[in-house]
Amino acid sequence: MIHAQDFETALSMRGGSFAESYRIFRTILRSHPNPPDPGQRQLRLAILNAGGLSPGMNAAIRAAVRLGMDKGHTFVAVKRGFHGLIEGDISELDWMSVSGWVSRGGAGLGTSRHIPGGRDFYAIAKNLETHKIDGLLIIGGWSGYEAAYQLFTRRNDFPSFNIPIVCLPTSIDNNLPGTDLSIGADTALNNIVTNVDKIKQSAVASRRCFVVEVMGRDCGYLALFSGLATGAEKAYLPEEDITIAELQEDVAGLIEGFKSGKRLGLMIRNEKAGGLYDSGFMSTLFEQAGGDLFDVRQAILGHIQQGGNPSPFDRIQATRLASESIEFLLGEVDQPTPAAAMIGLKGGEIEFTSIYDFPRLVEPGYQRPKDQWWLRLRSIAETMDQTPNLPK
Ligand code: F6P
Repeated sequence: MIHAQDFETALSMRGGSFAESYRIFRTILRSHPNPPDPGQRQLRLAILNAGGLSPGMNAAIRAAVRLGMDKGHTFVAVKRGFHGLIEGDISELDWMSVSGWVSRGGAGLGTSRHIPGGRDFYAIAKNLETHKIDGLLIIGGWSGYEAAYQLFTRRNDFPSFNIPIVCLPTSIDNNLPGTDLSIGADTALNNIVTNVDKIKQSAVASRRCFVVEVMGRDCGYLALFSGLATGAEKAYLPEEDITIAELQEDVAGLIEGFKSGKRLGLMIRNEKAGGLYDSGFMSTLFEQAGGDLFDVRQAILGHIQQGGNPSPFDRIQATRLASESIEFLLGEVDQPTPAAAMIGLKGGEIEFTSIYDFPRLVEPGYQRPKDQWWLRLRSIAETMDQTPNLPK
């Protein structure tokens, strides 16, 4: 096809999203956008971060702004999440304002976990009208999704909420419905594994057991996957109850292991797993039981998990999702009832789920979806941790 100069077909024959990725790449790298078509309707799209900080937020914003501007539309940035939308902290972005953002950690626009309530809705409605906003892209985590749901359910009271909305999942916790993965979780996992590998070297040197605490709130994704990737004995998840009997069993396993020559123990605990049986409690329990056989240290990894520049995977997926989100907003803007949706990756494909389904898809009282595909790997982790059942 290339010899025949049929480049369109040659590109499409690369399969999957190759042609689309190529188009995105060429657009984003240009030094200025294409001018709008004569007579074209120029939309004003607002963009904000909401929820906890997650690496990749900036990469998503950069892609959205450049791909949307290249189609002739204008972007306004809302600072500090919904605080900015309430207080009117809103300003226009230009092509160069997102230069270099693909690799930058942190959140250039700032973020907050504020979920609007009460009089906030009047202020938001007024600002959406004043700034003539035609669509809203929320790049964030749980509180961004809750806020989008709140706006969606108040459309009858506030006509300016009747605009298309997309929630693009960014959270290190990977705890959002409508997607298998959220942007930032890969970077956080890399941060955890890099640091646990170092901690393991200290443990091997001195016959030690480490209790490592990782983030994730109500979702055990980071604990289970970092446990799998570092070869931990145990991952404690918030999805499961932890009993004192289970901890006694774990202590017995450690004692047996160290007696038969083991040099390191590694237990990974999600920050909310076990409630009052926290990392300090577990460390004390193991230390007391370990006696002279091994000592125990705890390591709470903390905010290194949110930090650093996004991984290549997070940058690329953020860009892909941002591109599709913009297409979605542009496609919905003229509908009589524009959709409000959560974009996500499902089995590697991009899918949209109505924000109306948000409450139905999440576990009541917890910040996590009802269906978490990765929990199916729990049994693999358990098998890998066990001493083999030897033939009698
Ligand atoms: O939700 C993301 C997250 O990093 C959680 O894993 C963690 O519990 C929390 O945010 C930390 O919040 P903050 O940065 O406000 O201390």
